[in-house]
Amino acid sequence: MQKNLFIYTFGCQMNVHDSEKIVALMEKSGYASVGDVGMADLIIINTCSIREKAAQKAYSQLGRLKEFKKRKPRLIIGVGGCLAQQWGAKLIERVPYLDLVFGTHNIHSLPDLIKTIEETRVQVVRTEFHEAVKSLGILAPIRNGRVTAYVTIMQGCNNFCSYCVVPHLRGKEESRSLREIVKEVEVLAGRGVKEVTLLGQNVNSYGKTIGNGHDFADLLHEIGSIRGIERIRFTTSHPKDLSDRLVNCFSYVDKLCEHIHLPVQTGSDRILSMMNRCYTNADYCERVDKLRSVRPDISITSDIIVGFPGETDRDFQATIDMMGKIRFDNLFSFKYSEREGTAAAELGDKVNDYVKSERLKIVQALQEKHTLEKNEAMIGNAEDILVEEISKNFKEDMAGRTRTNKIVNFRGGCEMIGKTVSVLITDAYQHSLRGRLLNVN
Ligand code: 5AD
Ligand code: SF4
Repeated sequence: MQKNLFIYTFGCQMNVHDSEKIVALMEKSGYASVGDVGMADLIIINTCSIREKAAQKAYSQLGRLKEFKKRKPRLIIGVGGCLAQQWGAKLIERVPYLDLVFGTHNIHSLPDLIKTIEETRVQVVRTEFHEAVKSLGILAPIRNGRVTAYVTIMQGCNNFCSYCVVPHLRGKEESRSLREIVKEVEVLAGRGVKEVTLLGQNVNSYGKTIGNGHDFADLLHEIGSIRGIERIRFTTSHPKDLSDRLVNCFSYVDKLCEHIHLPVQTGSDRILSMMNRCYTNADYCERVDKLRSVRPDISITSDIIVGFPGETDRDFQATIDMMGKIRFDNLFSFKYSEREGTAAAELGDKVNDYVKSERLKIVQALQEKHTLEKNEAMIGNAEDILVEEISKNFKEDMAGRTRTNKIVNFRGGCEMIGKTVSVLITDAYQHSLRGRLLNVN
């Protein structure tokens, strides 16, 4: 009999892609992915715990599922991702109606674990780390008609930024072999994918754990020569590992889109050092200058944390000054959230929540201004748009992205999905642009 799977996904692109891999695995063992949680025989919650707020969201979702389990006792509920890794068996003590807790390195075992639960109805916890992460090679199904796909090129992180829980929950940095990645991208190209986003916590250090001399720039070159792939993106980069070789790729790997997400975290050298980021404000600005000299139209986005322990008004002002100097295209900004087990959790001189909220408001207001100004400056440009889907707002509109990763809506038809079209930008908003179709390339 057909069994149904429903997944809730919280957190980053890495988690979104892990959920895609979970669907691929479970489809092979007889489950169909459904869009209605009420029809599910198996519910997976793929969690994030990078900030307390993300963890709380997962707990609320779990709370809501209690009723489902009461109504349908044979329903299996599993929790994966960072929260599962962090709490393991303690999660079952807190949420006794859970059937399964599986960690970030245990995705590949999911079909076996589910089978055990179906047969024995025991509660299962599996959170051990593996040297070679077996889920890296799982090929995800292509999401309905999508022309874009994620490809994991590495897992884990060796950086230990003092605020961050990721290295504790995703384990040591581990790169996949260049050959394996290229093979995966070739398969995706064969299935109609036009754009790949290469994923890793710190893609700039790709290859270090393999030790065969291949670095991230080599990988970009190899993928750049795969027929059918038109655009390459990657995320996330660490400024300390952004080599000249990689910066130069923006000038001569044609398919590499001119956008980089380069988290700065703060403009204060004192706080950068306490965060263990291994670069200064001047180093960061020098990297941005270099990127812009190679590719003047490159779009630069970033992450900023406000209210790190000990952050003074002067430190905060350094962040604001830096934002004014660099003028990011877009920004994700967060209040510092203390995470158990991290080095920063041991620091005194915490910033109170009111001050954090005030600082966050200032950062966000300034960024909104910069984003809108940058978007408005694009009016009158003819931009190449890879058409991805029907627009979420209007059925008559199509939506796609510029190479600089800005969403553009324009009047068009479904037959354009997967094609690159030229669009004249006519209007600019905070989160998107609007344009008029010029021609289909
Ligand atoms: N508190 C607030 N923000 C955090 N980030 C990571 N850890 C924390 C934390 N403890 C942010 C960083 C990182 C992004 C993915 O999440 O800005 O770049
Ligand atoms: Fe966390 Fe720093 Fe690693 Fe990014 S580079 S995942 S912020 S430890």
